Amino acid sequence: MGKHLIVGASGQLGIELMLGLQARYGAENVVLSDVRPCPHPDAALSTFVTADATDLDAQRALMEGNDIDVVYNLVAMLSAKGESHPMAAWGLNMNPLLHTLELAREGKVKRVFWPSSIAVFGSEAPKNGTPQDAALVPTTVYGVSKTAGELWCKYYHDKFGVDVRSIRYPGLIGYRSMPGGGTTDYAVDAFHCAAAGKALTCYLAHDERLPMMSMSDAVRGTLELMEAPSAHVQVRTSYNLHGCDFTPAELTTAIRRHVPDFEVVYAPDHRQAIAESWPNRLDDHSARRDWGWQPEHDVEGLVQHVLEGLAQPIHG
Ligand code: SER
Repeated sequence: MGKHLIVGASGQLGIELMLGLQARYGAENVVLSDVRPCPHPDAALSTFVTADATDLDAQRALMEGNDIDVVYNLVAMLSAKGESHPMAAWGLNMNPLLHTLELAREGKVKRVFWPSSIAVFGSEAPKNGTPQDAALVPTTVYGVSKTAGELWCKYYHDKFGVDVRSIRYPGLIGYRSMPGGGTTDYAVDAFHCAAAGKALTCYLAHDERLPMMSMSDAVRGTLELMEAPSAHVQVRTSYNLHGCDFTPAELTTAIRRHVPDFEVVYAPDHRQAIAESWPNRLDDHSARRDWGWQPEHDVEGLVQHVLEGLAQPIHG
């Protein structure tokens, strides 16, 4: 493979994926793009192109001008923010994906990654061990756009042979970058509050269980999926991927083993209804079978990993 392009490189996942791709393939083989500058210092090691992901011509120029083979298109408006701006979320979550798929169909790139989410599931899906092929009846515009996007990915693969691959990420927990506008973000906030000696005001109920994953597992899983031989990638909508699962109360207990004074105040808001519609735990045996997925971090491992990362002088 030649160069790897991240569209949406300045976001929560983009920064982490940038570091993963730079370490794996060399910074000179990574190209970054966003409308905002990337706040991580290592972004300076790779080419950065300011480009609008919603502009097809700008995306074509980006791919043609930089000899791109693989695109990771991470542009999205997350679940909670999307409910306040439904049409903006729909446009942002769909148009950049469709542009990337079209450019891949034209042969501009060889392989595409696009993230889906646990938000594709709604109340008609079993909550515990949610199957890969459960009914997708999402309750948020974010979930609707991810469901539609999964179907577009499969359509471009089946109809035009586009090698597009996808993962239904659970809540992603890292220490290098802040999320924005999601429903699972309370868990990232919890670590920042604990590290800063502050109390967390938690907008979910104490017993609201959600699937979660460390950023290091998410990035490794993404690279493993993208390196798998094409014939092994049997799921062309999006793979369920499970890391671990916990409630806010369980996370608090785990953090208190390291930060005994950590306090949480519960004040559930509209995000609680979104969380209630999502799975507790995913069945990810398709990913394990097809390309060997195996998470590293359970809840205890994730807590230790994130707190150690936050204690570093530069969270790099
Ligand atoms: N982390 C996302 C959110 O909370 C779910 O994919 O919106």
